[in-house]
Amino acid sequence: MSSAKVILEGNEYELPITVGTEGEVGIEIRSLRKLSKAVTLDEGYGNTGSCKSAITFIDGERGIMRYRGYPIEQVAEQSSFVEVCYLLVFGELPTSGQLEEFSDALTRHTLLHEDMKKFFEGYSSSAHPMVILSSMVASLSTYYPPTTDETLDLNILRLLAKAKTIAAFSYKKSIGQPFIYPRNDLSYTKNFLHMMFANPAEPYEVPEVLDHALRLLLILHADHEQNCSTSTVRMVGSSGADLFASIAAGINALSGPLHGGANQKVMEMLRRIRADGSNTKKYVEMAKDKDSDFRLMGFGHRVYKNFDPRARILKVAANRVLDELKLDDSLLDIARALEEVALADDYFLERNLYPNVDFYSGFLYRAMGIPTNMFTVMFSLGRLPGWIAHWKEMREDPNGRIHRPRQIYIGETERAFVPISER
Ligand code: ACO
Repeated sequence: MSSAKVILEGNEYELPITVGTEGEVGIEIRSLRKLSKAVTLDEGYGNTGSCKSAITFIDGERGIMRYRGYPIEQVAEQSSFVEVCYLLVFGELPTSGQLEEFSDALTRHTLLHEDMKKFFEGYSSSAHPMVILSSMVASLSTYYPPTTDETLDLNILRLLAKAKTIAAFSYKKSIGQPFIYPRNDLSYTKNFLHMMFANPAEPYEVPEVLDHALRLLLILHADHEQNCSTSTVRMVGSSGADLFASIAAGINALSGPLHGGANQKVMEMLRRIRADGSNTKKYVEMAKDKDSDFRLMGFGHRVYKNFDPRARILKVAANRVLDELKLDDSLLDIARALEEVALADDYFLERNLYPNVDFYSGFLYRAMGIPTNMFTVMFSLGRLPGWIAHWKEMREDPNGRIHRPRQIYIGETERAFVPISER
């Protein structure tokens, strides 16, 4: 297969084809407008490839997801989050020497510039930590030089290392506790939990089971090809905007309830169902009712139309962590019941609506003691290496150009301006 034909009002146009390494076929329509004056229309970009990428492969029909070719199940079982950061950003698994060097460098860059701590004083104590995260990440560019070939690796390290400090500080700010500084003897994940949960009156020994759960959550969220926030990072970066500015834009895109905010919404939904007598059937009916704007949060996915492999891994992990910590979570019982009712219902089966990664991730965060308003921040920490990898890939693409889609105008045709005295 080397080309496709479009017939428009009797005229035939031949368009080239690009085939990916997994056999995915893309019809290149770049020349179509020049040839025929027509553009393609694909609202929400559901069937539009916006770039060529070598980072993550997803086959939504078969429930497959791979980072740089490695199946997510194997990565989740065998890798550390820092190793995944290296893999996504630099394209290959690190040797043990490379991993040690990378890990040490990340540890050494974890501190925030002391002056940046003052920024936190300006935020209202009710500010959403996600808003603080995005503005603090954008503010990093006021302390560090713009990202050029010379500063690229260092700015990437700074961002990966400092984002978790910013995240933990934003939590401490929201609960009125003093900031806890990072410790260089702790791993990436343990350091984060230490900054979150230690306080001057009480040290915090990170439970191994929670360290493992956090590792898993971060790895499973690390990349997901051209989702809304990643496309935003590439879109913003395509104008030549700096790494910190582009990633801050990605964080803002992730804050929406239909994207990263979904696990927060899952918890709110489950609490609402519990307060209403735990009648899961009633809510499944509401989700099906087109006159109601209620949707089952944590269900459905633009890409996965079979199952979300991340949701499978997290469901097992959530059960294990709650068992090991002997935590009783009535919301998890409601979630299980909801899943059972929905998965036996034709509405959900016909539309291929299955639990997505957000359906179970909230339970693990809750077990760690991470409050609901921090869930999206946690997602951001996980997604950070993916965003960075895409920004870097976009920047290094020799054929890259500013992203600028077209539209089909459906407004008024030309009409004469009416002076205000005549309206
Ligand atoms: N509950 C009830 N019905 C649903 C749901 C749901 N969660 N999701 C989709 N549907 C229905 C739609 O009403 C539509 O029905 P119709 O064909 O009768 O009109 C059909 O399924 C297709 O839905 P779309 O909205 O067209 O699917 P799309 O691919 O655009 O949306 C999305 C995907 C946004 C994830 C959607 O399923 C949703 O809103 N889910 C709930 C929010 C959520 O969990 N988001 C997290 C996504 S994962 C992530 O970002 C990490």
